[in-house]
Amino acid sequence: MITNPLTLLRHAQKHGYAVPAFNVNHLETILAVMDAAVEMQSPVILETSEGGVQYAGMSMLIAMVKAASERPVPVVLHLDHGKDLPLIKQAIETGYTSVMIDASEYPFEENVRRTRQVVAWARAKGVMVEAELGRIGGTEDLVHTSKKEAFFTDPDEAKTFVRESECDTLAIAIGTHHGAMKFSGNTHLDIERLKKIRALVDVPLVLHGASGVREDIVALVKRFGGELAEARGVLDEDIALAVQNGITKINIDTDLRLGFSAGLREAVAEHPNWFDPRKLFEPGRTLMKEIAKQKMELMGSKGKA
Ligand code: G3H
Ligand code: 13P
Ligand code: ZN
Repeated sequence: MITNPLTLLRHAQKHGYAVPAFNVNHLETILAVMDAAVEMQSPVILETSEGGVQYAGMSMLIAMVKAASERPVPVVLHLDHGKDLPLIKQAIETGYTSVMIDASEYPFEENVRRTRQVVAWARAKGVMVEAELGRIGGTEDLVHTSKKEAFFTDPDEAKTFVRESECDTLAIAIGTHHGAMKFSGNTHLDIERLKKIRALVDVPLVLHGASGVREDIVALVKRFGGELAEARGVLDEDIALAVQNGITKINIDTDLRLGFSAGLREAVAEHPNWFDPRKLFEPGRTLMKEIAKQKMELMGSKGKA
């Protein structure tokens, strides 16, 4: 069932777990995530990037998520990394229950101004607004930030930003990066910074770029011909610490992409006689489901539906 996102995230905040937010662009990912959510009895956020909207069309994505929400677990439809104000307005007006305004590349005052504009549109429709302060590194389709440019969220600025922008939730930068090549070596998140932000800011906090880039999945991709130089993600222990210290929404895209491509590569390599897309996509769908279930366990959302 479609659920109120802010009520869901406040429940997570109060009870010390995080809700997984998976990027979905196509049917197989939606099916895999929903199967995982129903099996784990977990609430789930299905989010689409602006790239996803370009790929599948907003009305198609809304219709697919509406159909998915007939399953018996709480579902949120969220626009991820909204940068284009007219597109965000369209999402608010056509059925998204939650939107992100990502104006983090702008100076503080402009970030506040853009966020306030989106908040004004969203309030009229009862839609939740996620904003971002600080920069999350990495590159995926339309989301680019060089590692040099990326900078962490300042706790005092976060307090002022939430007060002035009136955003409902805040994405913060504490050392994560988008994509599969996040770090060289094992790098830990800045949990002390998170604690300071949590102490000063009362809205639910969001962690982007949180994929774990599982070694076994990377190995599978490589075994069947994929090339992934130095792929490395956030350690599970750091995700657990982030949840313990107040993160309540966690964005995952790369891990599902890797799972899907591992399964697809294996299907193509091992079954040269398959040509039905349902068969070719089945191993990838199964891996995505297994990965989604593991995230629900890790974030503590299992059993919270
Ligand atoms: O944060 C970025 C998301 O993973 C979206 O990526 O723009 O390639 O769909 P995308
Ligand atoms: P990953 O690239 O780590 O999966 O992050 C996804 C994300 O933050 C989507 O907004
Ligand atoms: Zn992100």
